[in-house]
Amino acid sequence: MRVLDHPILGRARPGRKVIFYFNGEPVEGYEGEPIAAALIAAGIKVLRITPRLGEPRGVFCAIGRCSDCIVLVNGMPARACVTPVKEGLDVRSFPGGGRS
Ligand code: FES
Repeated sequence: MRVLDHPILGRARPGRKVIFYFNGEPVEGYEGEPIAAALIAAGIKVLRITPRLGEPRGVFCAIGRCSDCIVLVNGMPARACVTPVKEGLDVRSFPGGGRS
């Protein structure tokens, strides 16, 4: 699920492999890649459920503008698409967060 050889950006140079946690479950990622990229590579596409409609949300814009990917990272709200993976991060679905 990762783009390893991009026609414009060239070859990926991934950081070291690390483990972080999503809702308490270990997830493997590369240090420095966006949390959302590591989660998608692990098959996790739903990052939160909307409070009013109960609909799943994940990555939409992927550039830090829409907030659809908001999660809690070590207890603080963060956009998963622009927040880098680090060893041991505690990432959790945002409880009732975001719009709609
Ligand atoms: S997907 Fe839009 S801010 Fe992350």
